[in-house]
Formats: sequence, structure tokens, C-alpha cells
Amino acid sequence: MEEKLKIPPNVAIVMDGNGRWATRRGLPRTDGHLAGEKAVGEIVPAAVDFGIQALTLYAFSTENWKRPLEEVRFIMNFNRELLRKRTDEFNKLNVKIRFLGRKGRIPPSLRRQMEESSETTKGNSGLKLNIAFNYGGRAELVDAMREIGREVARGKINPERINEKTINRHLYAPDIVDYDLFIRTAGEMRISNFLLWEIAYTELYITDVLWPDFDRDCLLQAIKEYGRRTRKFGDILPTEKS
Ligand code: IPE
Ligand code: IPE
Ligand code: MG
Repeated sequence: MEEKLKIPPNVAIVMDGNGRWATRRGLPRTDGHLAGEKAVGEIVPAAVDFGIQALTLYAFSTENWKRPLEEVRFIMNFNRELLRKRTDEFNKLNVKIRFLGRKGRIPPSLRRQMEESSETTKGNSGLKLNIAFNYGGRAELVDAMREIGREVARGKINPERINEKTINRHLYAPDIVDYDLFIRTAGEMRISNFLLWEIAYTELYITDVLWPDFDRDCLLQAIKEYGRRTRKFGDILPTEKS
């Protein structure tokens, strides 16, 4: 019998393994980023179909600037072109595009395209597509602390009343405070500074599939696995309670 799918409302994906995908084929690493575009083009409509509410894709971390300048430049141009090519298509799917991360260091031409993609899709009510770009979980918390500090200095917040909700309100996407499913491709058993606060009780799913090979069926497998998990949030099950 076909099992009924339990759809995780908020999903985050670490799109990892582009470099390895290329190296295994004797190609330059940057060809792996190019190949990853197809997966983005397949996973976004699949997320819409499955009825996922928010999809957050890790595209560039605050630590990825350490890579050779040529690769960083390639990634900047590649992301600009990807957005230019895909915005209308995603717009037609009622997808709302947003960017999480620090804007400062991003080249102006990419930043303009990011603004355009957000502007074009800002009225959409379907899938929230968050692209984490120049994103770091620690940087996000530092930015939140700075803003809270400013509000304390202005007398808007009483430090004694700071609680988890105060932090939630100052995140890059205050409407998505908790993720249900965290997917990482390419097998690494680590978080790599993605969504630290927001994944406190998220279900983790790590697959060896490299990002350029990740397709709709891989997403379906992750959703099925999520459906088999028992989430307890620190509690015990109702059936265990006397
Ligand atoms: C993920 O793939 C893309 C970015 C981090 C920008 P990688 O480039 O990290 O691929 P691997 O981990 O070297 O295979
Ligand atoms: C995480 O992958 C960042 C993105 C996928 C954008 P990395 O390849 O940068 O992570 P590490 O260096 O293996 O931890
Ligand atoms: Mg990697």
C-alpha cells in the first residue's frame, strides 16, 4: 500500500558535493556548480508539488570566501545567471524568493539581481524559497544580538524581558523559527554553520547523493524518512504516559 506522505512544512537543504561531482568526472570544480543548477530547477517545483511551505537552500556560506578567488567569482556570476534564468519560472509557480545572509560583500551586479528576484516575487503566496547566500548561522545570531543591543540602548527592550521570542523576531526570516527537516547532500555529518538556532529540534537527513544528482525522487525519499521519525521535543510519548 502507498504510504500517506507526511510533508515537513519547513525544509532546509545544504546543497553540497558539487566539487566532488566534477572531480570524479575529471572536470574542473566549477563544472560541478553548473551541474547543480539542474537540481535547483527540479527541487523547487517538486517542493511546490509536495506542498512544502518553506524551502531554504544553502548556496554560499560566510566561510566559502576562503576558496580560491576564481571559484568565488565563478559562484557569484553563476548565481546571478541562475536567478536571471529562473525567476520568471519560479514566479509562475507562485514562489516567493527571499535571501538570507549579509549583503555587504556580495558584488553589486548579483545584489541587483537578488533585489529584482525578491521584488518580482514578493506578492506571491506559495512556496517561500529562501536562498541562504553569504549566510552564516553565527553571523545571523551576531546580527540579531546587535539589533537587540541597539533596541536595549534606545530603551525599546528591557534586558530582563529578553527571551527566545525576542531572538526569533530578530532572525533573518522571523516567520521561520523552526525547521522540520534538514537535508544535507554529499554525506558530510556536519552542520557547517547553517541555521544553528533554527534547527534545535529539526530532523536531520544526510544522503551520500551529490547535489547535482539530487532529484525529485531523492527529495521524496527524505520526506518518507521524515514521516517515519518520532518527534518528541523533549517530552515522552502520550502512550508512555500513565
Ligand atoms: C557546494 O559544493 C557548493 C558550495 C559550497 C558553494 P562544494 O563546492 O562544497 O562541493 P564539494 O564539497 O567540494 O564536493
Ligand atoms: C556548506 O558546504 C555550504 C554550502 C553548501 C553552501 P561546505 O562545502 O562549505 O561545507 P564544509 O566546508 O565541507 O564543512
Ligand atoms: Mg562542500
